[in-house]
Amino acid sequence: MTNFSELYRSKLTTADALALRVEDGWTLGMDAALAQTPGIISAIAERAKKDELHGVKVQTLLDVYPFAFYADSSLSGKLNGVSWFSSGGARKAVNEGYADFIPSYYRDIPKLIRSFYEYDAFCVSVSPMDKHGYFSLAATSSYSEAMRSKAKRVFLEVNKYQPRAVCGTQIHISQVDALIENDQSLPVLPPAKLDEVSITIGNLIAEQIPDGACIQLGIGAIPDATGMALKAKHDLGIHTEMFTDSMVELIQCGAVNNSKKQIHRGKSVTTFAYGSQRIYDYIDDNPAIELLPVDYVNDPNVICQNDNMISINAALEVDLWGQVCAESVGTKHMSGSGGQIDYVRGACQSKGGKSFIAFSSTAKGGTISKIKPILTPGAVCTTSKNDVDYIVTEYGLAHLRGQSLAERARQLIAIAHPDFRDELSFEAKKRGIMI
Ligand code: COA
Repeated sequence: MTNFSELYRSKLTTADALALRVEDGWTLGMDAALAQTPGIISAIAERAKKDELHGVKVQTLLDVYPFAFYADSSLSGKLNGVSWFSSGGARKAVNEGYADFIPSYYRDIPKLIRSFYEYDAFCVSVSPMDKHGYFSLAATSSYSEAMRSKAKRVFLEVNKYQPRAVCGTQIHISQVDALIENDQSLPVLPPAKLDEVSITIGNLIAEQIPDGACIQLGIGAIPDATGMALKAKHDLGIHTEMFTDSMVELIQCGAVNNSKKQIHRGKSVTTFAYGSQRIYDYIDDNPAIELLPVDYVNDPNVICQNDNMISINAALEVDLWGQVCAESVGTKHMSGSGGQIDYVRGACQSKGGKSFIAFSSTAKGGTISKIKPILTPGAVCTTSKNDVDYIVTEYGLAHLRGQSLAERARQLIAIAHPDFRDELSFEAKKRGIMI
C-alpha cells in the first residue's frame, strides 16, 4: 500500500526552489479567490524582478491577493497576468495595457480551457492532505479540474487555514508534482457598506421573493442588503455562483433550509466562496454545501431546474431598450461578464423564476444617471434587451421582459432619479420611442 505521507514528503519543497523550476515562456494557471497561491506567485515574481524570467503568463480570475503581475507594470514582458474576469488589481492592469483579458461567460471557461489552452503548471492552494492522500481545493471548484487536466505539472500550496470542502473538487497526492507549505491567514472580503439606497433596493426586491424560492446573490452592497432583507422568509434554497456572508446569515437564522429545491435538495450549491472567516468556518467539513464546477453550477439549464429561482446582480448602466452594461464605464473596462447572463437566463427559464438587475439610480454623487437614453459609447452590453427581466433602483422596479420599447422606456424613466426624468423623456421622444 502506498505511503501517502512519504509521497508528500518527497514532493515537499520551498517556494524559492519551486520558482526555480519555472522557465521562460511558461503559462501558469490559477483558479479564483482562495484557490490562488500567494507564496508560489511571490517567489516567481521575485525571479522576474531580478530579470531571471521572461514571457511568463499567469491566468487568473477574481484575484484576492495583490499579485505583482497586476500591481507592477515594470514586470511587463517578464511576468504578465491574463484575467478571465478582471476585477480588483487586474482591472487597473488591463486598462493600463500590461495585462490581458479573455471575454467569456463564466460557465464556458472549463470548455474554453479544454479547447484552447495548455498550462506548464496549474498552481492551487489546498487544505492539508487527508489520510487517503486527498487535498480539498478549499472554497473553489470553478474551473480547477479543467485546468488541472490541461496542465503538464501541478504545484500545490498547502495552507492549514484553508477550509476542507467535503463536497468539492479534490486532488490526490499522486497527481501532484511539487508542493509547498504556506500557513498564511486567508484573505477576507470587507463587508459591503449597506447605505440607505441599498437597503431600500434590497427591501423592494425582497417583497418579490416568495417563501420557498431558490436564490443567487452577486457581489456587493445591493445583493448583501437583499440577503439581509430575506431573514424573515421561510424554506429558501441556495444555488449560486459565489457563496457569500449573507447566505451564511440566512442559513444560520433558519430562512434557508434548501427543503423546497427540485435539485440538490437539502444542500446549498455554489462554485466558489469568498467573504469572511465565518464563511470559511461554515464550509469546513460541512456536507450541507456542495462546491461544484462552474460549467455545471452556472449552466442555465441546471439553474432553471429549481422552481422560483431568483437572481440578483449589479450593473453600471442600462439604456431605454433595457440593454444592461455591467462591464465598463464607456471604454473603461471594469470587469468580465461573470455569471450575470447565466443567472438571468436560468432564473427566467425557471418556473416562477425572476431575475433582478439592481443599482442606485445615479453615480458620482448624483451627477450621472445610470439609466441612459443610449449606452455610453464603448460600453459593453452584458445582458441583452431580449434577456433582461427586472431592473431595480431605489425608486422602484421596472419589469421589462416581454414589454414593448415604449413600455420599457416608460417604466425605466419612472425609476430613474427625478432630476433626470425630463431629459430621459425628451431623448426618448427624439428617438421616436412613444411614451
Ligand atoms: N457612469 C460613470 N461611473 C459609474 C457608473 C456610471 N454609469 N456606474 C458606476 N460608476 C463608477 C462608480 O461611481 C465607481 O467609481 P469610484 O471607483 O470612483 O467610486 C465605479 O464606477 C465602480 O462602481 P461600483 O458601483 O462601485 O461597481 P463595482 O466596482 O462594485 O462593480 C460591477 C460593479 C457591476 C462592475 C461588477 O460587480 C459586476 O457585477 N460585474 C458583472 C459580473 C456579474 O454580474 N457577476 C455576478 C455574478 S457573481
